[in-house]
Amino acid sequence: MRLSPAPPGPKGHLLVGSLPEIQRDELDFLVQQVREHGDIVHIRVVNHDSYVLSHPNDIETVLVTKSNNFMKSVFLRESRALFGDGLLTSDGGLWQRQRRLLQPAFHHEHILAYTKTMLDSTERMLATWKDGEERDVHEDMTRLTMEIVAKVVFGEDIDSDADQACQAFSLFFKQYDERFGLYLIPEWLPTPANFRYRRAIKRLDDIVLGIIRRKHSATNGNGHSPGVLSMMLGARDGDGSGMPERQVRDEMMTLFFTGHETTALALAWTFYLLGQNPEKEQKLQAEIDAVLDGRAPGFQDLARMPYLEMVFKESLRLYPPAFGVVREALNDCEIGGYAIRKGATLAMFQWVVHRDPRFFERPDEFIPERWENDFAKTLPRCAYFPFGAGSRVCIGNTFAQAEVPLLIASIVRRFQLKLLPGHRVATAPSLTLRPLRGIRVTLRKR
Ligand code: HEM
Repeated sequence: MRLSPAPPGPKGHLLVGSLPEIQRDELDFLVQQVREHGDIVHIRVVNHDSYVLSHPNDIETVLVTKSNNFMKSVFLRESRALFGDGLLTSDGGLWQRQRRLLQPAFHHEHILAYTKTMLDSTERMLATWKDGEERDVHEDMTRLTMEIVAKVVFGEDIDSDADQACQAFSLFFKQYDERFGLYLIPEWLPTPANFRYRRAIKRLDDIVLGIIRRKHSATNGNGHSPGVLSMMLGARDGDGSGMPERQVRDEMMTLFFTGHETTALALAWTFYLLGQNPEKEQKLQAEIDAVLDGRAPGFQDLARMPYLEMVFKESLRLYPPAFGVVREALNDCEIGGYAIRKGATLAMFQWVVHRDPRFFERPDEFIPERWENDFAKTLPRCAYFPFGAGSRVCIGNTFAQAEVPLLIASIVRRFQLKLLPGHRVATAPSLTLRPLRGIRVTLRKR
């Protein structure tokens, strides 16, 4: 087969390529480029070539059918300072072994057990909320989901560490963006930004390693107390040796982060969309009120709340917390008729594909009803992939699909969150899709 020459793309500036445009408004820039150049766009940033893939078939090739030809890319590896060789960033045999070991923690019976923690923590938070109060719902959801995942992962409350952890993650994000904005300054350079970056990671390290060591001495590594950590401390290799502390730390840090950041964003963006669409909000309230009839929700109620599920799906479509995934080609290959060289970066953005009018009518509108009548089954496999796809699909997706709707139901039952007039909400794409200045709301008791 004759392959086409290089994929089209923006010319970019002589030295920095498209860096200024990406820094100005990354999401808008991507959508524009795809609209102008098509399903494969070549984008150069400084001396690095990336290919943005936006056809579901090409995305399926990379994530599913030929996933062995690709690895996690240099962009994710940049966050290795925080995640080390945890599940999100590792590759090959190590990733395979760790995934097999951690997978059971996400089986249905465990998720069911975790829902008690989810609901108890939410009730505790709601007990502190007051009618008429103004709050940042992103901040509140971050704190809440962090408390929940800490209990599930570490098997204990992290009350005293939670504020510190929230602050350190915020600092990490700020510095991550700054480093990224200056285009991947080597971490060893003694710049003030690098110093602050390392300080944030050190704080998180102190918290996570502190918990691991406490737990290790309390259980003596026998793995009999609750939590994923305990399970890891109890895991033994064929020769009877335990997992090195560094690996335990990397997995715990990865789960601690991925397990709260993404679900907090899904919740915050959902409340933003409901606030903007009062009709949909009322429809959701009516469903929740009818099913719960004044009592707190439980896992078994979710099956009786189809509109809630559609609201969550639609929110993940419009504001996918993980708004892009990246891979690096391990060999020369062909994608969509183009020759792609070994080492090239392939970027696939949920933000772009989920708004493609070929697959979603009126793509920019919040229409939960589009998911009725098994609409998902009519889509090409990777036209909607908020949790990724293939072997590297999100390990926490069942956890998130229980947690987010349960928390929405618990909150909507008791409060209406009214968007604060005059507070402009904007996206701040970073490692995840965060709201720039939070999402400010006024609470109305129901
Ligand atoms: C709405 C919530 C969530 C979204 C949208 C989300 C999204 C994603 C996506 C897109 C990936 C694939 C990344 C890639 O292919 O490069 C991923 C991987 C991952 N997620 Fe999630 N996630 C969510 C919740 C969670 C939760 C609750 C946990 C843990 C409790 C979690 C843990 C992970 C881990 C460990 C990986 C790496 C898996 C691997 O490579 O084997 N995520 N997530």
